[in-house]
Amino acid sequence: MDYRDAINIDDLRAIARRRLPRFVFDYVDGGAEDELTLAGNRDGFARLRFRPRTLVDVSARDLSALLLGVRSALPVVVGPTGLNGLSWRDGDMALARAAADAGVPFAMSTVSMSLIEDVARVAPGRHWLQAYVFSERAITEALIHRARDADFECVVLTSDFPVAGKRERDWRTGLLPAQRLTLATRLDMLLHPRWLATVATRRPRFVNVERELGPGRDVNAFVGHNMFDPAFRWDDLARFRDLWPRKLLLKGVLRADDAERAVAAGVDGVVLSNHGGRQLDAAISGLAALPAVTRAVGGRVSVLVDGGVRRGGDIAKALALGAEGVLLGRAPVYGLAAGGQAGVARALAILADEFDRTLALTGCRDVSGLTPDLIASAGP
Ligand SMILES: Cc1cc2nc3c(=O)[nH]c(=O)nc-3n(C[C@H](O)[C@H](O)[C@H](O)COP(=O)(O)O)c2cc1C
Repeated sequence: MDYRDAINIDDLRAIARRRLPRFVFDYVDGGAEDELTLAGNRDGFARLRFRPRTLVDVSARDLSALLLGVRSALPVVVGPTGLNGLSWRDGDMALARAAADAGVPFAMSTVSMSLIEDVARVAPGRHWLQAYVFSERAITEALIHRARDADFECVVLTSDFPVAGKRERDWRTGLLPAQRLTLATRLDMLLHPRWLATVATRRPRFVNVERELGPGRDVNAFVGHNMFDPAFRWDDLARFRDLWPRKLLLKGVLRADDAERAVAAGVDGVVLSNHGGRQLDAAISGLAALPAVTRAVGGRVSVLVDGGVRRGGDIAKALALGAEGVLLGRAPVYGLAAGGQAGVARALAILADEFDRTLALTGCRDVSGLTPDLIASAGP
């Protein structure tokens, strides 16, 4: 199957699985430990059902929504994912271009493999930078300054990474903890000549962090050991706020009291997220946290959610429960691995089409119709 034939996100995942060497597919697809949270993210959406309104004139529909006060073609952000250069050559640029074409923001990871400046240059859209605060804070500050100079709109500070989650699939392939790929992983790479010829010929690197570290320092070791400063706390967030005058989101919040603290520290919004089930296994889902957080801080700041969005209907469910929008993690990356920029475009088009149908079928003309009364729990 080709990415053009994919009729849903799962099809793109199947193509990605075939095209990628095992260690890359497992890195993208996998979660921490028993993958309870990874599965729970999908289950959470599956358990919610719609109570549709009928006989509404839905002949004209508008899929757009305000994200951080700016209109977006869809209530969707292409969320931050690291190591995209392993799925496709210059993967971050392909994601940024496809997001810009689809009229949605692109959030670039700290551990991206394209330069901040190149993404800004090649894609005309809205750019956000996801930040990990390294123990060596100057490195993070330098990245933030570069994002400011490149006209990025928003910084997304990720807070759920005080240490790395235990991603056992990556331990088995040797990608983690120290990027020492096993013999079986290396042999499997040889079985993917197209990937070897297009991706591996120019070894993808953490170019943004590397530039700040300067020559003579091993960027892989640095990223591996300094992912996030485990001592970073609420007062630091308030200070971080002063570094970046534009929009600031805190990503990795799962509790209403933490959302309140984030608001007190001056953020413009929170992303309810368990990092796609890749960090704390058995963490609740962002979706599960949504009602309480919306009650606590909704209306004061933006509330976004991610984890397990694979259908346009999932976007509608999240909005009905109070989210302003959703971040996509794996869905666009499956598209990327399946067909580069065109594959990402395919993923976004599939989700837009499903979201449009869901609006019509639930009796909504636009996102303002997505209200909590539309949602029921699954039952007989
Ligand atoms: C391959 C991959 C890499 C990721 N890298 C990052 C990252 O660098 N920074 C970050 O804040 N979140 C990262 N995440 C988490 C996503 O931003 C997002 O929270 C999560 O993937 C959402 O779940 P979903 O994949 O089910 O949509 C990553 C997720 C994946 C799948």
